Amino acid sequence: MKILLFGKGGQVGWELQRSLAPLGQIVALDFDSKDLCGDFTNIDGIAATVRQVRPGVIVNAAAHTAVDKAESEPALAHRINAEAPGALAREAKAVGAMLVHYSTDYVFDGSGERPWREDDATGPLSVYGATKLAGEEAIRQSGCRHLIFRTSWVYAARGGNFAKTMLRLARERDRLTVINDQTGAPTGADLLADVTAHAIRAANQDEKLCGLYHLVASGHTTWHDYARLVIEYARNAGVEIKVAPSAIEPVPTSAFPTPARRPNNSRLATDKLRTAFGLTLPAWQAGVERMLAEILEK
Ligand SMILES: NC(=O)c1ccc[n+]([C@@H]2O[C@H](COP(=O)([O-])OP(=O)(O)OC[C@H]3O[C@@H](n4cnc5c(N)ncnc54)[C@H](OP(=O)(O)O)[C@@H]3O)[C@@H](O)[C@H]2O)c1
Repeated sequence: MKILLFGKGGQVGWELQRSLAPLGQIVALDFDSKDLCGDFTNIDGIAATVRQVRPGVIVNAAAHTAVDKAESEPALAHRINAEAPGALAREAKAVGAMLVHYSTDYVFDGSGERPWREDDATGPLSVYGATKLAGEEAIRQSGCRHLIFRTSWVYAARGGNFAKTMLRLARERDRLTVINDQTGAPTGADLLADVTAHAIRAANQDEKLCGLYHLVASGHTTWHDYARLVIEYARNAGVEIKVAPSAIEPVPTSAFPTPARRPNNSRLATDKLRTAFGLTLPAWQAGVERMLAEILEK
């Protein structure tokens, strides 16, 4: 099977290069790839890429993920998050490929405390959320075989992430303030990539498995409790930490004003995915601790 992967350099894209390798031949592209177009601002270019490669599966890990920046460049965010996935979906339909795509908890308005289900009403609060929702809709409307995974709070050992920022601040400062009124599940890019490979295999054999799924690690936390876990893990691992546990203060989102509004309730219910694919999802702490072990040994 030939797999066409877009966004190979992102957190999830990088892990997908590893997890998809056993499934077949991967053609992996980034926005600046030379021989084939992988630039999502060039809609005709990426459509031509699909026609040329004629893959069995297209996996889209590219996106405009700068949530605050998207507020001031909505047209670009729409092109990358909505028009480009829509074009990939139309081409997927034309060549008979399955399209795998990622979306976000930001399609919801973040109200309440119940984990959101796939069929709950959406209500994005930000340009990023609205454009990601438009991308989902364009894929559904195309009629192509697809898997869409909505996820949240993605991290990877490679590149910058929330845990690394907290560790740096905890070494430098004797007091930290961290938001405690947003709740979600930190989810590793490696988990997303592994489940994607499993789901592609299953959905290729049984088309009824195609559709929209919520995919996050199990359990949930706040940014404040996430930061505390990261800092205590590092302290126990012998890292010199300046901030005392009692000096990591919880604050509301309003303490850190940002251009984009973020949902308070980012909990996603994963029952549909776990049942359909026969999976047990690991606790969020397990993935975060694995990532910490990796970054602290460097
Ligand atoms: N990160 C999260 O917390 C989170 C949460 C929920 C859902 N998601 C979704 O999960 C998926 C993967 O996200 P991620 O965390 O892996 O994001 P990421 O690390 O930001 O990766 C996105 C990739 O898309 C690339 N890209 C940006 N503009 C492009 C363009 N014009 N053409 C082609 N590629 C372009 C980026 O390149 P540059 O880095 O060079 O710009 C980057 O390699 C996305 O669909 C995202 O919406 C992410």
